[in-house]
Amino acid sequence: MIISGKELALSLKRRLAEEVGTFEERYGRVPHLAVILVGDDAGSVSYVTGKAKASAEVGIRNTTLRRPATISEEELLALIAELNADDEVDGILVQLPLPKHIDTDKVIAAVDVSKDVDGFHPLNVAALWQKQPCTLPCTPKGIIKMLKAAGVEIAGKRAVVIGRSNIVGLPVAKLLLDENATVTVAHSRTRNLAEVTSQAEILVVAIGRPRFVTADMVAEGAVVIDVGVNRDPESGKLCGDVDFAAIEPKASVITPVPGGVGPMTICCLMENTVECFLRRMHGRER
Ligand code: GUN
Repeated sequence: MIISGKELALSLKRRLAEEVGTFEERYGRVPHLAVILVGDDAGSVSYVTGKAKASAEVGIRNTTLRRPATISEEELLALIAELNADDEVDGILVQLPLPKHIDTDKVIAAVDVSKDVDGFHPLNVAALWQKQPCTLPCTPKGIIKMLKAAGVEIAGKRAVVIGRSNIVGLPVAKLLLDENATVTVAHSRTRNLAEVTSQAEILVVAIGRPRFVTADMVAEGAVVIDVGVNRDPESGKLCGDVDFAAIEPKASVITPVPGGVGPMTICCLMENTVECFLRRMHGRER
C-alpha cells in the first residue's frame, strides 16, 4: 500500500478550514502565522511558498518576511523580538537552514515558546522528552498521523530511524517510543547498517541522500516512511532517501516522494498554528 500524504493532508486541511471558519465570529480574528525566510535558497523558497499556500487553504493569515542572506544575527533577533511582542501574531517560523554567520540555536531559543509552531524551542524539546504537553515538531507529528491513518500497529514493533537530527530523527524516535515501539536510531557511524535496517518492521529514513536505502536493506513486509527530499542527480527530479521502485514491491506500506511526508509536515504546521492561536485566545501559556 502506498500512503498518500497528499490526500490525507487534504482531508485534514479541510477539517481544519471548517474549524478556522468559526474563529472570526468567536474570537474576532483568525490565526496569524509569521514566516521568516533568510536568503534565497531554492528549497527554502519552495517550502515557504507551500506554507503560504496551505495557510490560504485553511484560512490562516500568513505573513512571509523575506530578508537578505546578509542580515546580521542582531537584526534577525530584533525582528523575532518584534513578532514575539506583536499580539496579532500567533505563530513564528524561521525557515532553516540559516546562513553560517547566524547562530541557529540562539535564533530558535529567541522565538517565544508560546509561538513556536515548529516545536524547536528548548522548552518544547524538553517537554517532549518529559512527556509533557508541548508543540510537537511538524514532520514527526505528521509521520505518526500517517502511520495511524494507514492502520499500522506501532506498539511492540521494532522501529528503526535512520538519521538523528533535532528536526526529524530524534523527535520521531521519541514519538515512536511513546507509541511503545522498540526504537533503534541509526546514523552515519552505524556499523552494518543494512543488518540493522533489515530488522525493522517500521523503517523511517531521514538522512537526505537520494535513494540511499536499497532493497537489500529492507525486510519483506516492512512499513517504510521516506522523509527525504532530494534532487535526483541525473534527472533533476524530486526523489526520496529510499529507492522507491525497488522497495515498493517488498514493503507492506510505503510513502512516496513527492506526495508523502512533505504535505503532512505542512498540514501539521497549520494544526500547530491553530493550537498556538487557541491557547493564546484562552489565555494559556503552554
Ligand atoms: N527546514 C527543513 N525542515 C524545516 C522545518 O520543519 N521547519 C523549519 N523552520 N525549517 C525547516
